[in-house]
Amino acid sequence: MEQEQNNHKHNYPEIISKLINVIIALIFIILVLVVLLYKYLPNYCLSEENTSLKNQPDSNGLFTDAAKQEALKHIDTTHYWTVPNESTLSASEKETILYGRDLIVHTALYYGPSGKIFKNNTNSMNCQNCHLEGGTKVYGNNYSSVASTYPKYRARSGGIENIFKRVNDCFERSLNEKAIDTTSKEMKAIVAYIYWLGKDVPKGQKSAGSGLKELAFLDRAANADNGQKVYSEKCQSCHQANGGGQMNGDKTEFTYPPLWGNQSYNDGAGLYRLSNFAKFVKYNMPQGASHNSAQLSDEEAWDVSAFVNSQPRPKKNISKDWPKINEKPFDHPFGPYVDGFDEVQHKYGPFKKIKDKLASLNNEKK
Ligand code: HEC
Ligand code: HEC
Repeated sequence: MEQEQNNHKHNYPEIISKLINVIIALIFIILVLVVLLYKYLPNYCLSEENTSLKNQPDSNGLFTDAAKQEALKHIDTTHYWTVPNESTLSASEKETILYGRDLIVHTALYYGPSGKIFKNNTNSMNCQNCHLEGGTKVYGNNYSSVASTYPKYRARSGGIENIFKRVNDCFERSLNEKAIDTTSKEMKAIVAYIYWLGKDVPKGQKSAGSGLKELAFLDRAANADNGQKVYSEKCQSCHQANGGGQMNGDKTEFTYPPLWGNQSYNDGAGLYRLSNFAKFVKYNMPQGASHNSAQLSDEEAWDVSAFVNSQPRPKKNISKDWPKINEKPFDHPFGPYVDGFDEVQHKYGPFKKIKDKLASLNNEKK
């Protein structure tokens, strides 16, 4: 009995140590399995053969390859024009160019009601009001392709125009002011700035994103009544109910420029043509909109253009414009015309038929 009991006592530690060994071995095997699974399982799950996990949506929530390919097509990979680097300019070049830029950005401080160069009480707009960000915004009516394309033939004057003439066109029409002296320091600085902006665009070519972005025609006439609603909802808070805009505190320039009335552009200006206005507004207004984040539908853009350009504004004697009648654009609202359509349709559309007719008449002529 004594011995049996002793035997029993001896065996307990042995069993425990065996058990511990077995447990250690099991833990080791489990660890190895976990490592193996971790290493090979993800590859297996994501491999081509495995279809159960393949149809996961991507970060845009698209499932099929076709949808993913289609989405890729809409990513804008265009290499848009950008402003040249200022750091390569000499001190004197820089002074002229920055003066030119200031004349574009704060034109009214030089030529407005309290202008340093001359005082003008009819118009206080800045070039920048329409040539956004100092004439550098992509599709914000920028100047990037002016240096590369001027001098050029312009149908409005029926002759070859240089940049000086083009700048003065905007002074006389968009700013409804006097032309400035083409030999003045100011004209030279404005032209130097415009040349510098376009210096890397090859002669005869247009850069990506220059001027205004094309906009599809409506298949009906633009509607000023619809446009009035768009205006009161989406424009009036800044441009004011009377369209007269709002000046800054010390009345030296506009914070929100006028869209009509005697301080606005005259009826010989580029924006008085409905297509220019609609393209400008569609991709730039309300303030903050851009070519890749338009906020107006095409209908709203055309209709608000019809409303604004139906309001009173200064008149210019433009009897000498478009001396060759067949070169008048489809949306020039003053006759006579060669195409048989009336002034109302030339002002508000629908434009497609006019454009087609003009194209076929001008083809016959050739
Ligand atoms: C009320 C709006 C408005 C204002 C203000 C304005 N412009 Fe313009 N400008 C336009 C529009 C619109 C065009 C394009 C017209 C067209 O193509 O028929 C244009 C065209 C031009 C062009 C030719 C651009 C090109 O690519 O061919 C130059 C240069 C220019 N403006 C200079 C100026 C200067 C300088 C000022 C200030 C003195 C000025 N503009 C003020 C609306 C304006
Ligand atoms: C949040 C304010 C704001 C709203 C809303 C707004 N604009 Fe403007 N708009 C501006 C400013 C500011 C400028 C001048 C930009 C500059 O000088 O940099 C401007 C310029 C313009 C110009 C060219 C300059 C001129 O006076 O002729 C037109 C045209 C225009 N806006 C039309 C519209 C239309 C149409 C709407 C409504 C669809 C609209 N804007 C909504 C702030 C606004």
